[in-house]
Amino acid sequence: MADRLPLIAANWKMFKRIDEAVVFIGALHHEVGRPTDREVVIAPPFTALAAVSAAMRDTAFKLAAQNFHYEEKGAFTGEISGVMLKEVDCEYVILGHSERRHVFGEEDELIRKKVAAAFRYGFTPIFCVGEKLEKREEGKTFEVVGKQLKQGLEGLSAEQAAQVVVAYEPVWAIGTGKTATPEQAQEVHAFIRECYSSLFDIGVANRVRIVYGGSVKPDNVDTLMAQPDIDGMLVGGASLEVASFKRIVQFQ
Ligand code: 13P
Repeated sequence: MADRLPLIAANWKMFKRIDEAVVFIGALHHEVGRPTDREVVIAPPFTALAAVSAAMRDTAFKLAAQNFHYEEKGAFTGEISGVMLKEVDCEYVILGHSERRHVFGEEDELIRKKVAAAFRYGFTPIFCVGEKLEKREEGKTFEVVGKQLKQGLEGLSAEQAAQVVVAYEPVWAIGTGKTATPEQAQEVHAFIRECYSSLFDIGVANRVRIVYGGSVKPDNVDTLMAQPDIDGMLVGGASLEVASFKRIVQFQ
């Protein structure tokens, strides 16, 4: 199996002012130093991107945006473009997050355009998929996740697809304290890898990193990370405090 570098990402959502964000980066760097056996990515709100980018300059952390628009510029009130994110040295962009899909109505086709656009700017997309509770209860988890994957990845080359970070975030586990069990998460991650194998090939499937998100905490990170197809974590609430995020970064 290909070596996959674990990725631990903090999604701060609509939390932290600029000063709080900068203090966090200094404190986290002090606590975890420069890990080389895992990647640490921070996605602050847009207003803090420039300051966090500057604060990260002497760290090993990487910067992510939480969303972007696929056009370079234009009359798109309230949107931000890849050119603007490049100016602050963003390397990753979270796309298709369940809050974008379900609170703001983003659909597969829009997300597909954003995933494709991410490669035009040299960003690594963190492409999120996941089912709602009712779909899980109807036994439709694979159907939902398979469709989101197929549509979001359409048109990518095999090489691009291998570089995508897929985030499996079951909607019922986000911000609810209800984590998927390691077995539930592993089952879907293995399914995502199988989809990759049929959409591309086994080599691409073995390279792609698939991270889990949904109530990841210091006390469940180790068992989740022990699963063979779980390559990292996308962390919301527990990424807001240095102590809890540090423990997640230092999973064993
Ligand atoms: P929580 O960790 O707060 O459940 O959020 C998960 C998430 O949505 C990360 O993108």
